[in-house]
Amino acid sequence: MFSTTIIIPFILFTFTYLLFKFYLREKQNTINHKKPPGPPTLPIIGNLHMLGKLPHRTLQSLSKKYGSIMSLQLGQVPTIVISSSKAAESFLKTHDINFASRPKTQASQLIFYGSKGLAFSEYGPYWRSVKKLCTLKLLSASKVEMFGPIRKKELDVLVKSLEKVVLVGEVVNVSEIVENLIEDIVYKMILGRGKYEQFDLKKLVQEGMAMLGAFNLADYVSWLGPFDLQGFTRTCKKTGKALDEVLEMIITEHEQSTNVDKVRHEDFIDILLSIVHQTVDPENEQSGVIDRTNIKAILLDMIVAGIDTATTTIEWALSELFRHPRVMKKLQDEIQNEVGNKRMVEENDLKKLNYLDMVVDETLRLYPVGPLLLPRECRESITIDGYFIKEKTRVIVNAWAIGRDSNIWLENADEFYPERFSDKKMNYQGQQFESIPFGSGRRRCPGIQLGLVTVRFVVAQLVHCFNWELPHNISPSNLNMEEKFGVTIPRAQHLHAIPSYRLECDEKLE
Ligand code: HEM
Ligand SMILES: *[C@@H]1O[C@H](CO)[C@@H](O)[C@H](O)[C@H]1NC(C)=O
Repeated sequence: MFSTTIIIPFILFTFTYLLFKFYLREKQNTINHKKPPGPPTLPIIGNLHMLGKLPHRTLQSLSKKYGSIMSLQLGQVPTIVISSSKAAESFLKTHDINFASRPKTQASQLIFYGSKGLAFSEYGPYWRSVKKLCTLKLLSASKVEMFGPIRKKELDVLVKSLEKVVLVGEVVNVSEIVENLIEDIVYKMILGRGKYEQFDLKKLVQEGMAMLGAFNLADYVSWLGPFDLQGFTRTCKKTGKALDEVLEMIITEHEQSTNVDKVRHEDFIDILLSIVHQTVDPENEQSGVIDRTNIKAILLDMIVAGIDTATTTIEWALSELFRHPRVMKKLQDEIQNEVGNKRMVEENDLKKLNYLDMVVDETLRLYPVGPLLLPRECRESITIDGYFIKEKTRVIVNAWAIGRDSNIWLENADEFYPERFSDKKMNYQGQQFESIPFGSGRRRCPGIQLGLVTVRFVVAQLVHCFNWELPHNISPSNLNMEEKFGVTIPRAQHLHAIPSYRLECDEKLE
């Protein structure tokens, strides 16, 4: 008797309590803490094992299953992957300020001066001021124009050297000539000259890039850091130190050459040195003073952001043109109509070349060089579309998948068809989300104009001066188009072709 009077209320109480607790948790989950759907995770590594060799492709297929706002667990790092233009608009426009930060990684900290530059620093007064400084002083429309003669001269040199190759009918390593061309242009613009005898800057920068794009386990499972299993930390420190020494030497050299004996043009270092020790942003006292480390960090950001991006885009544009003789002919005709067939293209001609713009837009849609942009970090916890996203969550935007979304680009989304842009003029200024090769929002690429003019000019010149034929009787449709994954997605196989001269200026050929 006694025991049942106790036990029944006890059981009832416990039951109600559990039910209530469960219900509350469920409710909290659905109202406040519902995570976006995502694949099941393993202990410790989460979903890291799933990414594979071409993460942009893997993430695209996962998003078809789990949705355009998807959760992943990368080691200990909670991550959201965005895969549609609608979701991108929500994260990079409506809620942009909340996702305008970058996560810290070992490579960015140890090689790229952490938060001292532009590309990898967290959102805040310092980043805002440096961004303003770079946009106004280094990458503005007038500066892009000021550096025009460098692009023209380097491209002239390349065309001259190719004319010689034409005479012997050799196969040209297109990847190589484009890479060298862009390196020369960018180094001359930033550092004042392309080559140094004392050290191999290009190699060091390539090493830095490789570290940046490499997969470093310690960035995702932080307690593994101290063990440095992959030797990553050591290599980063070594590369970082070597790069720093080289940048020091180049800056010192600039400081020592007086204005009088400057035969060379003004470059990025001169511009930055002219404002050293000044407040980064005169209108913002919080922004601090620009010092030597800031200068080195900004220079390195510019070098890294300027070279691979343009090189890779040009390589893909040419590959698609070689693969589509119809498009190539139409482009060559357009240029010939504007420029004639007696002279080379000038940058001034570019504004009249609409089809060229469409070819470049189509290339950037299919091959956004940063397929996953640069990673963002959520600054404050927020609920979007009913999904709870916790502070510090990493946000990956799959620009590659967005450009190939068949809901927007229809059933021929994977096809190279520039005409699709004939009534859709792209300006990449943050209003269009159907193709976002330059990112969007506050963290959008500040080098869009410079990048576009470089790509358009080089592509136009190379197809105007030369016809290109694939070697070894490869038929256009059989050209291998596989990509590799890193910070950028270059061709997996280097591009080769045989040029023949198109223009009617015989004196050039003699
Ligand atoms: C075809 C050429 C280029 C492409 C496709 C490209 C693409 C991108 C992308 C996707 C981002 C990340 C945007 C985001 O997180 O939303 C970015 C950032 C950046 N780009 Fe470019 N870029 C190009 C050329 C350049 C050039 C020529 C420069 C300067 C020399 C440059 C400087 C930068 C910098 C400094 C950032 C970091 C911005 C920040 O974090 O605030 N880019 N770019
Ligand atoms: C072509 O150029 C690339 C890039 O510079 C280089 O890595 C590759 O080895 C070259 N290929 C050949 C066959 O020379």
